Amino acid sequence: MAEIIRITDVAPRDGLQNEQGIVPTEDKVRLIDLLLRAKVDEIEATSFVSPKWIPQLADAEDVLAGVRKTIDAIQPALTSPPLPLGEGAGSGPTHFAPATTLSVLVPNARGFERALAIHRAGLPLKIAVFTAASETFSQKNTNATITETIERFNQFLPAAFDEGMDVRMYISCAVACPFEGAIAPDNVRAVADQLLALAPTSALNDGRVEIDLGDTIGAAQPADIAALLSAFTPTEIEQLLVLHLHDTKHCAADCARTAIELGVGSFDASAGGLGGCPYAGTPDNPAPGNIATSTLLDTIEAMGMETNVDRAALNGASAFARSIIEKAHP
Ligand code: HMG
Ligand code: MG
Repeated sequence: MAEIIRITDVAPRDGLQNEQGIVPTEDKVRLIDLLLRAKVDEIEATSFVSPKWIPQLADAEDVLAGVRKTIDAIQPALTSPPLPLGEGAGSGPTHFAPATTLSVLVPNARGFERALAIHRAGLPLKIAVFTAASETFSQKNTNATITETIERFNQFLPAAFDEGMDVRMYISCAVACPFEGAIAPDNVRAVADQLLALAPTSALNDGRVEIDLGDTIGAAQPADIAALLSAFTPTEIEQLLVLHLHDTKHCAADCARTAIELGVGSFDASAGGLGGCPYAGTPDNPAPGNIATSTLLDTIEAMGMETNVDRAALNGASAFARSIIEKAHP
């Protein structure tokens, strides 16, 4: 089992993409600032998707410009060159975590160009591509079959690796699909193999690629997580996989515990429990929020394990995350 569990806070992306009210850009920047202070290992800051599909994140460039200003003012060392994961976290008098990685969702070559412009301008970015283990969800979320999404990624991933960007590869509906029901672990494995085939061996060996398994609608029980993980080798579980849990039935903490026992060392969570994919919901069943980062911390600490997160600072970020949602719904 990993001794220090890695945490990616996805509140600025997954949390805000489903928000019906308008969240001002400066509030998004402030949330990311607070998450940097909370020393999470990675922040999924925004999405370079089509603003027609996700208008809530249409200000992606402006958000990152604001983040860049914050970082430049307080911690110039964060911007160039990027530091290895884990280095610097928790050290020094500053509240910032120089090791925090900033990642962004990228669905196609257009999104990659937008991310690359910012990366080249001196704010190092990791990119996150996303497909699904369900054809219906893939169509609804990206207007493409699973194979077509993978062909899209192949148009820009070689350049991303050449540019030194790390790559996250999401597989949504890794347990269940809102439209197709239960998804077999073998289907997830097959999609993972197609994704991994896009990465050069050197990037795989250097740990620059991760497969992020999304329980998009929070359907999983611990036994489902165990079944899903059985499709991967122990080395893959420890070194390649990330688990992205939504918390519909309040089972996400139990699922995280099972995953940690089976060797998963990296999780997504969201400050304040915000989150949900707009294309995973129906009018009667809105998409559920991610596991709250504080709930994930409770689970990890109860198992006697550690994270790099500063709990008091995280509480501040979580309170702010909830406040901006409340402000958007007066
Ligand atoms: P499409 O409509 O088939 O593509 O969408 P298109 O090429 O016809 O583009 C439509 C319009 O968008 C065009 O504008 C493009 O230029 C523009 P127009 O010519 O009509 O004025 N466009 C873009 N603009 C800016 N940036 C771009 C971009 N691409 C096209 N990158 C597409 C295909 C993939 C673009 C669309 O389906 C899309 O953006 N989907 C994203 C949906 C999304 O973000 N869902 C939520 C994230 S996934 C998630 O939440 C799950 C996760 O959390 C894990 C889990 O829980 O399972 C990650
Ligand atoms: Mg999600």
